Amino acid sequence: MTARRVNALDGAWSFGPLEPGADPGAVPDELLGTAIVPHVVAELSWRDWDPASWERDWLYRKRFAGAGEPGRRYFLRFAGVLTTTRPILNGRPLEPHGGGYLPFDREVTGLLAARNVLDVVVDGRFDADVPPNSDRPSDVVDFWQPAGLHREVALVARPADHVRDVFAKPVRVLDDARRGLVVRCELDLVDGGPAQLRAQLRDADRPVAEAEREVDLGPGRGTAELVLDGLSGVRLWDPDSPHLYDVVVTLRRAGRVVDEHRVRTGFREVRFDRDGFRLNGERLRLFGVNRHQLFPFAGAAMPARVQRRDAEILRRELNCTMVRCSHYPPHEAFLDACDELGLLVWDEPPGWQHLGSGRWLERAHRDVHDMIVRDRNHPSVVLWAARLNETPGDAEFYGRTERLAKSLDDSRPTTGAILGADHATTDFQHDVFGYNDYSASTGPDGLPQPEPEPPRRDLPYLISEAVGTLSGPARFYRRTDPQAVQQGQALAHAQVHDLAGADPAYAGVLAWAGFDYPSGHGNIDRGVKWPGVVDLFRVPKPGAAMYRAQVDPRRRPVIEPSFHWDLTGPSPVRELGEAAIWSNVDRLELFVGGEPFGALTAARERYPNLPYPPFLADFGAVRGIPELRVDGYLDDRMVLTRRFSADRSADRLVLRPDDRELVAGGADATRVEIRVVDRYGADRPHTAGDVELDLTGPAELVGPARFPLAETGGVGAVWLRSARSGTGRVRLRALHPSAGEARTELTVTAS
Ligand code: GAL
Repeated sequence: MTARRVNALDGAWSFGPLEPGADPGAVPDELLGTAIVPHVVAELSWRDWDPASWERDWLYRKRFAGAGEPGRRYFLRFAGVLTTTRPILNGRPLEPHGGGYLPFDREVTGLLAARNVLDVVVDGRFDADVPPNSDRPSDVVDFWQPAGLHREVALVARPADHVRDVFAKPVRVLDDARRGLVVRCELDLVDGGPAQLRAQLRDADRPVAEAEREVDLGPGRGTAELVLDGLSGVRLWDPDSPHLYDVVVTLRRAGRVVDEHRVRTGFREVRFDRDGFRLNGERLRLFGVNRHQLFPFAGAAMPARVQRRDAEILRRELNCTMVRCSHYPPHEAFLDACDELGLLVWDEPPGWQHLGSGRWLERAHRDVHDMIVRDRNHPSVVLWAARLNETPGDAEFYGRTERLAKSLDDSRPTTGAILGADHATTDFQHDVFGYNDYSASTGPDGLPQPEPEPPRRDLPYLISEAVGTLSGPARFYRRTDPQAVQQGQALAHAQVHDLAGADPAYAGVLAWAGFDYPSGHGNIDRGVKWPGVVDLFRVPKPGAAMYRAQVDPRRRPVIEPSFHWDLTGPSPVRELGEAAIWSNVDRLELFVGGEPFGALTAARERYPNLPYPPFLADFGAVRGIPELRVDGYLDDRMVLTRRFSADRSADRLVLRPDDRELVAGGADATRVEIRVVDRYGADRPHTAGDVELDLTGPAELVGPARFPLAETGGVGAVWLRSARSGTGRVRLRALHPSAGEARTELTVTAS
């Protein structure tokens, strides 16, 4: 029998708080409730999270059958647990783990019985020995870290002799004749002795190339390398055409397949030079944002489908070419999606403005190791942070992390994000200088601009944060804020991308931030940080309009105002001197109340380095509640028209699910947007009143049944999670006092 089997241990677990000093094994099942894994221990709203609700011991219990087969080895795999984990299998304590964002395995061969009890004690306290934490209260870190089994748990069965890990490293990618793939295999053998190892490159299911060799290793762990050469004609991976290949490694003994291990790869060459970034030899401007993974109501505990959706928003809706995973490695499904969508990634170990000592540092070092080993087959990952975000210099420690990164993967450059004023003084041993540029200087319009002169010209240079709540025109960008704040966000992001685009020394800008996130630190309002161009509910704000327009119009013409066409509400568009319409067409023709209101061209003189600058209009004199129509032309051809109504009487409620199908069993989930829109479908902010939600069928609501739409600015979302049992139709009905009723349906299918 070949290969591994994975028994997912997600779905329903028994769960409850564990009293101090209590013996977990002595807690009767009847005292425990139910948890669905991925899981967060606390009841969370979308805001005002309270760390006291998760900072204690918790007990998770899973009962499962199966003594295991002789000749196999068994591993429990935890993909991510916040913060400290003490697993106990059938009364036997397994080695604890401290650290919230990377996977760990525990071998349980020989410990399985016909009926198994897995108790997992999760300590949700802010452990001072675990990066990014310190011995100060947990709000010292900028983002909340609510506890729980927030990623999947599985029991993995492997053959006794198996391929433990494979790193498939493309080499000489740009040389068609000499292109190759070095496949480094880590084997774990019980018996040792001669065996055959084969690596096959496959395009979908079609074999493209293979290499084979004999290995003769003793018992234990060993490494063997295979080289696939002459890979002329393979398709390269890039953001527009992210072509992926599979690498299948087979271990054979006496002609019989003993184990098979499969990874994905993509062929691309990454180079950071002092005059910018090159992918496959071509200059590519890095255009993107930072991402935190926190969700309303669920913390980090969202399944693969929901994690993937964030990558889709960034790549398909905001046209980003890159994302920085601030400030910890993301769920693996997010990186899988980045591979498939062509979204480049800065991967980063957990860290935030603090370097501990002793055990803390060893764990930070281990995190760099575990991150690279987990993620090095993702072609989307182009940078390893070998330095933790905004931490003080430590030549000895960062020399070690740098050497570690290069020893695990010499094909990618390293980086680290330096805090503002430290740029001149810090020692920096990595390849690409990352700079969180919250420079206080302002450019035209009083908006922030990057340091006029890049602080380092001796190294490749990338702005790793900008705008945010520290140097933008506002500290909060809430939907409920005035139009000037919303639009100011779009203009501020435009300005940093534009000014950095003027100088090839800037590889690009990863602005702060992609998404709002719950936090207890610094500039917060109601426990939320609001610098996202997309809100907590994953709905782009008017501030995202700039990003949405940066796409070739032949691919997708865009007309996206960074204001709401609202002339009578609490924040009328008339308060904007210049109302920015973000578009990628050549010319816009405006009509107000059906009458021509002038033609516009893009403000290219103001944003000469932005591929698609805004079109600026003045609606100060408009009165009444007329419609706005915007026609977009490429040459003389109208390619898009959009309408906006100022008449609130025809506003309506809409529900929009991201998916129409969910997998049964409790772990799968999808988002449903709740919006009040005008008669043409444009968002209407400042709408008063709650939305009542009524759900029927085999799903559960992740979110409140009474949604406070006024507080979230007329737009929000809940998530629907498949029920633990049952398949079939799910119906969601929503009712709003003025915008009426909306309904949607989806189907829960057997896995
Ligand atoms: C930066 C930090 C980010 C975030 C930001 C504030 O200095 O790296 O994590 O805290 O400030 O908006």
